[in-house]
Amino acid sequence: MAVDVLLGLQWGDEGKGKIVDVLTPEYDIIARFQGGPNAGHTLEFEGIKHVLHTIPSGIFHKGVKNVVGNGVVIDPVILKIEIDKLLKMGVDVKEQMLISKKAHLILPSHKLLDKASEMAKGKAKIGSTLKGIGPTYMDKTGRNGLRIGDIFEAGFQEKYLSLVKKHKNMLNFYDMDYNLDDMEVEFHQGIETIKELTAIDSEHYLNKAIKAGKNILAEGAQGTLLDIDFGTYPFVTSSNTITAGTCTGLGIAPNKIDRIVGIFKAYCTRVGSGPFPSEEDNETGERIRKLGFEFGATTGRERRCGWIDLPALKYAIMINGVTELSMMKGDVLDSFESIKVCTHYIHNGEKIDYFPYNINNNVEPVYIEKKGWNIDTTKITSESEFPKELVDYIAYLEAELETPISIISVGPDRSQTIQRDRVLA
Ligand code: GDP
Ligand code: IMO
Ligand code: MG
Repeated sequence: MAVDVLLGLQWGDEGKGKIVDVLTPEYDIIARFQGGPNAGHTLEFEGIKHVLHTIPSGIFHKGVKNVVGNGVVIDPVILKIEIDKLLKMGVDVKEQMLISKKAHLILPSHKLLDKASEMAKGKAKIGSTLKGIGPTYMDKTGRNGLRIGDIFEAGFQEKYLSLVKKHKNMLNFYDMDYNLDDMEVEFHQGIETIKELTAIDSEHYLNKAIKAGKNILAEGAQGTLLDIDFGTYPFVTSSNTITAGTCTGLGIAPNKIDRIVGIFKAYCTRVGSGPFPSEEDNETGERIRKLGFEFGATTGRERRCGWIDLPALKYAIMINGVTELSMMKGDVLDSFESIKVCTHYIHNGEKIDYFPYNINNNVEPVYIEKKGWNIDTTKITSESEFPKELVDYIAYLEAELETPISIISVGPDRSQTIQRDRVLA
């Protein structure tokens, strides 16, 4: 069979974890292809809320394999915490999860370098999650990194010490106090936990599975506007968060990819620094934040909130080849009399409908207003119960984005999900 992809179209936190969990029964394997513990993927069912950082969001379904692909960067400390938590809940993580030998390791010193780099940037800081993501990918592309497979080989400790030595030299350039000792104890405990997992050549495993007719869902982390190439550079993460990242992050060829589900919120959020043309840095944004509980799942930081941005979404749909959409958190807008939609930008005095090279204060959003639906949608279980204004909002977005919305989420719980046809009406 084929590989389907689910990924974020905005600045992350669109609700990927929830929808991967909802879709998992249709798949044999769920595979994360990039990012690391900067991700926080939330799922809710049976009154319990779970946040996953490294482990794919299919882990709560027995019999489904969860692969952490080569494109992911792994912090053994965080992974150990995640594993221990799941084991306590009775999830057989060691049976259900497989980890690529080619995935890179986040060292304690990568986290220190992340912090030092952000401190040195001052006001221009990225707003990194400080999980060591940037420095780890830098070592990967700089051909200095350590990989999961190295843990199992003689000489790992020497390789580790040699890389840490390099990092210490780099840290000398920064005026930052640090103490690596405690961090290293935890790191080595995490390494021991990873040794108990099954490390595989995930590209072979996945391609064999494709040949054997298995269904695979690739789970993205972050969002398209945080992509290292196509996001709002330099305020981005350090990996390819887009469909192409599935190929490099899992070793799957482009012609094996079938459905590409792009996920977006009915409004828009961003955490960390960087441009956000439709941001409402005011009472409206505050209202969305409160109603949507918009606080980072990884860092607890307040998420910046604003209106849906069509030029940005069209750009993301184009870059990813999105075949269908999943609209999240429409319920957060339930009490709004009217809802704004950014349709264009005024860019250097000109009205444009595309995402320009550089967005700073040279971009002004142009809005249209849609009438709100003003009813509680969180208990709706069928599309036929949607209020007229919500039906209009969905139809308007589908027409503008030229892509069907096949999933509508009306609350954080697994059950608050409505699936529709995968073609435009
Ligand atoms: P991810 O990183 O894309 O997996 O998203 P996060 O988990 O960081 O953030 C999404 C947040 O919205 C989580 O707290 C979810 O529980 C919550 N959520 C997901 N879908 C919905 C929805 O349709 N309505 C509401 N109100 N909350 C949702
Ligand atoms: P999920 O998978 C939202 C943001 C950070 C920062 C920038 C760079 O949960 O959607 P990094 O730690 O990667 O160096 O940070 O990217 N960021 C996210 N924002 N959701 C995420 O993941 C994010 N992962 C990173 O806030 O602005
Ligand atoms: Mg998140």
